[in-house]
Amino acid sequence: MVENILEIDRINLFLVANFIILRATNVSYLKLRRIPMKVAVLGAAGGIGQALSLLLKTGLPAGSELSLYDVAPVVPGVAVDLSHIPTDVKVAGFGADDLNKALEGSDIVLIPAGMPRKPGMDRADLFNVNAGIIKTLAEGIVASCPKALVGIITNPVNGTVPIVAEVFKKAGTYDAKRVFGITTLDVIRSEAFVAELKGVDVATVKVPVIGGHSGTTILPLLSQVEGVSFTAEEVAALTPRIQNAGTEVVNAKAGGGSATLSMGAAAARFCMSLVKGLQGEEVVDYAYVAVENGDAEYFAHPVRLGKNGVEEILSYGELSAFETKAKNDMLETLKKDIKEGVDFMA
Ligand code: LMR
Repeated sequence: MVENILEIDRINLFLVANFIILRATNVSYLKLRRIPMKVAVLGAAGGIGQALSLLLKTGLPAGSELSLYDVAPVVPGVAVDLSHIPTDVKVAGFGADDLNKALEGSDIVLIPAGMPRKPGMDRADLFNVNAGIIKTLAEGIVASCPKALVGIITNPVNGTVPIVAEVFKKAGTYDAKRVFGITTLDVIRSEAFVAELKGVDVATVKVPVIGGHSGTTILPLLSQVEGVSFTAEEVAALTPRIQNAGTEVVNAKAGGGSATLSMGAAAARFCMSLVKGLQGEEVVDYAYVAVENGDAEYFAHPVRLGKNGVEEILSYGELSAFETKAKNDMLETLKKDIKEGVDFMA
């Protein structure tokens, strides 16, 4: 009996000690998770904007603010709608004339604003209409929150990212570490398609995707996927499936727009990587960023994120012969897309 009591005491002591250690080691983690953020979504009333805002309302750290901006008059209603979800994230809606109010004090700005594709269109066909929209929004960021991390979804991403960078350069506020083209949709599609093809748990699948965000400039590195291998035929079929996945959605929506829900999920996932970085956590994610002495002036790379945005651009590692050829073949297109963006601001 006494022995049993002593044994129970020993177990209790062990549990209490473990609890104290866990609390001690978790303190900084809990503190980090609680840093509130202000995130602005520009184009928040559209299909991507609404899906993204919903995920941020339910995913941002407690105490955060979500600022929804759109020229569509429904935007205050979207904010009221979201505000009825019981999370500790404040939501406010701002209409056409209130861009600066929407942006003031933002830590992160995400931009899904712009026209989507219709069947038969290429992303590059959106340049003329979306270039002016992205320029205006970038000027708003210069005026109201020049230190924010900016994530661009507006197509063609290959060209809109350079436009934002050029606007910031002209204003003298450019910091290459803070401007991102969001290419996470290519990553999540690759994860979904690889898991489906190989019958593996999608949660375990990681697929590096480099390059740009349009057709052949999207380059999934299937040779680097761990735990599975692909035949040459599989690579030859899966690579274009990933590259044309956006068109697959555009065609399936038959004139009703392009990907909104998966894009919202992808942008929310990338936003949470930015948040973690700002909070001081180590995080590596893929994004289309300015690269010095790289394959092109802008190129999607794995990047280490931190308190200042990109802390380090990481190497994408060794490519297979198939990937090397695919990369070399697409660089001319990517560079042309980039030049179009730069020239728009010249
Ligand atoms: C996508 O990849 O789904 C988006 O870039 C939208 C589009 O036009 O394809």
